[in-house]
Amino acid sequence: MGYGLGFETLERETRIEALPVEGEIPGWLGGSLLRTGPARFEVGARELSHWFDGLAMLHRFGFAGGAVSYANRYLESRAYRAVEETGAIGYSEFATDPCRSLFRRAMSLFQPALSDNCNVNLVRLGERFVAMTETPLPVEFDPATLAAAGVGWKVPGQLTTAHPHLDRGGGMLNYAARLGPRSSYRFFRLAGAPGATPEIVASLPTRRPAYMHSFGLTERWLVLAEFPFVVNPAALALSGRPYIENYRWRPELGTRFTLLDRSGGEALGPFTADPCFGFHHVNAFEDAHGDVVADVCAFDDAGIVKCLYLDVLRAGRAIPAPELTRFTISPATGAVARERLVDEPVELPRIDYGRCNGRPYRYAWGAGTDGSGFFDRIVRADLRERTTVTWSETGCWPGEPVFVARPDAGDEGDGVLLSVVLDGAAGSSFLLVLDAATLAEVGRAIVPHHVPFGFHGQYAAAA
Ligand SMILES: [Fe+2]
Repeated sequence: MGYGLGFETLERETRIEALPVEGEIPGWLGGSLLRTGPARFEVGARELSHWFDGLAMLHRFGFAGGAVSYANRYLESRAYRAVEETGAIGYSEFATDPCRSLFRRAMSLFQPALSDNCNVNLVRLGERFVAMTETPLPVEFDPATLAAAGVGWKVPGQLTTAHPHLDRGGGMLNYAARLGPRSSYRFFRLAGAPGATPEIVASLPTRRPAYMHSFGLTERWLVLAEFPFVVNPAALALSGRPYIENYRWRPELGTRFTLLDRSGGEALGPFTADPCFGFHHVNAFEDAHGDVVADVCAFDDAGIVKCLYLDVLRAGRAIPAPELTRFTISPATGAVARERLVDEPVELPRIDYGRCNGRPYRYAWGAGTDGSGFFDRIVRADLRERTTVTWSETGCWPGEPVFVARPDAGDEGDGVLLSVVLDGAAGSSFLLVLDAATLAEVGRAIVPHHVPFGFHGQYAAAA
């Protein structure tokens, strides 16, 4: 299959001043690509169960004058320190629990023994850099040394997403689920200033919270999509099963969209569509008819979660194809129209966020697949023309393509894509720079080892 190395542990932590470069890295790239992702998949003799369980490592590709530096370091979370100090898993991960002797599962959600293993995404908020996962325990880090630097912020709930949206005025908006006898979805705003506390801007009661990995945002609305992969909060607290094993696929619920006003918290909906499942909202906006458009990377069902167990991935079973799907929600009629936008599968989506987040847009980029294995291509989707362009190379397995706008960019999508690619034959990874419009290669910087497959990262312009 050729991509199994992407699920193998990387022990080595390193700092390299200048990676070997092929082609030409644009001189205008002067910041850093910071990424997080799992990098250790076993603890002692024990294998972690799921891709999402791996211990987080931070990676930094620094750009200066056409040269590329590289550094990587394990995120020194308390979960990581527990592993280092005891040789055993100390906290509850996505699909792996600590050994019973170390842990009382029944208390975990309400007396937090939750992991702060922030391997999903990171955000820059003002001058702070914070790694995130879906527990309410973000970890701040120093972008220069990649050393952990304390707790990110308080989250008003037991679950959250690692996909906040930057808000007008410099703060961010994110989601939390408060679980208990009266559970609720909550959206909160966090100002950019250090020490700011979260302000709840909208909430919605729920009896069976849906698994929530991201949400949509328009100029006016927070877009909550409840895919019918839901959990009984009491079971989550009492089952003794790893976290994600408590969720159930309930297609009879359909996919339910609720619109919550960013300013006043007013809720419209739910507006129901056929059942599907997704991790990622791509973008959302209000159209000229007063409808709300929400684009999602959608799967037929939640089976994708099972496909991402490490034993399944290592066995080479193909991942299901994610469809770039547009839901058009009409508050006036209550109808939800659904259409597939392009034929190529698209996951790990990115857009020109600085220009288009929450607004009408034309281009999305992501990782794609031919359906026979893992992500094997980068896709550029033109949502106006409904066409795609792809980049691929035999034996290479790219991750999320992060769009970086050219400093003097004229149009949407004028810039480059940055993607960390595993070269299976070489047994190492490289940072690939593509022209975002044509997907022509601009250059690549070769890392001397493999970079385990990660999820998300951000480009931070030099301060
Ligand atoms: Fe994600």
